[in-house]
Amino acid sequence: MALVCDGALRILDQTLLPHEEKWIEIRSPDDMIREIQRLGVRGAPLIGVAAALALAQYAESGADQTQLKNAAQKISAARPTAVNLMAAVNRLAPLADNPKRFIAEAEAIFEEDVALCEAMAKRASDFIQDGDRILTHCNTGALATVGVGTALGAIRKAHESGKKIHVFVDETRPLLQGSRLTAWELGKLGIGYSLVCDNMAGALMARGEVRKVFVGADRIARNGDVANKIGTYPLAVLAKYHSIPFYVVAPKSTLDPDCGSGADIPIEIRDGDEVRFGKSPRNCEVWNPAFDVTPRSLISAIILDDRIL
Ligand code: MRU
Repeated sequence: MALVCDGALRILDQTLLPHEEKWIEIRSPDDMIREIQRLGVRGAPLIGVAAALALAQYAESGADQTQLKNAAQKISAARPTAVNLMAAVNRLAPLADNPKRFIAEAEAIFEEDVALCEAMAKRASDFIQDGDRILTHCNTGALATVGVGTALGAIRKAHESGKKIHVFVDETRPLLQGSRLTAWELGKLGIGYSLVCDNMAGALMARGEVRKVFVGADRIARNGDVANKIGTYPLAVLAKYHSIPFYVVAPKSTLDPDCGSGADIPIEIRDGDEVRFGKSPRNCEVWNPAFDVTPRSLISAIILDDRIL
């Protein structure tokens, strides 16, 4: 769990993991916007819940209807790609004239995420067999949701049901959600894993080491195209070439009926310094999209909490 609301609203600073576990207290919607933008709190479902709770806290502190509506608008624009953020805020905004219902709805969004995770993880774990060797990308576990997670939740359920599995964890450049967060979660769960650089996936597949690929999603368009962490699309291309099933696990709150196809999904472009560290020339030009789009033709199944597409 990377977010608690027990009198105070606090988030586990994911930028410091795995070496430091520091909780940050959130006192206003602006605090939460800052944390969402610097990835102190991250993962599509979690940022939706986090935004809802920050707005509920603001309502509780006496913010009036106009203040709540303005804050809702501002927080929903904190990051553009994960539709869970906008979906959560859109559920709350119409209730801004009724603080009690506003707060209750935010609590419902929290509770629902736990239930959605259970349902999708259970359903998706049926796609995992004893002995599977699974490649995953980014972090899709308890750190990215308030439940067990999406793709990593499925891996966790399979492990808990006694299936012996091994996970290959893409480090996930440039911010290393795989090597910092997924590796940390798998270690805590006692699930065997090997960390690989993103550019090793092809060689691993060519050697026959990968039986399945499991990833999450930040937004799913009406035609089934999926936006997820940058590096997901090349994995799907590689999986198709090697005839390896490629599964996306997500809650229904990640579906966006307003996006006809992946081309309509806004992709967040982040600061070049995230890529420029290390040995690159100091001010070199950088292109740093946080997400890419995988066309549905490369996806074997999208496993939702309530159905399989
Ligand atoms: O930039 P991040 O770390 O928020 O990106 C997260 C991902 O891309 C996850 O794969 C996605 O949110 C789905 S999993 C819960």
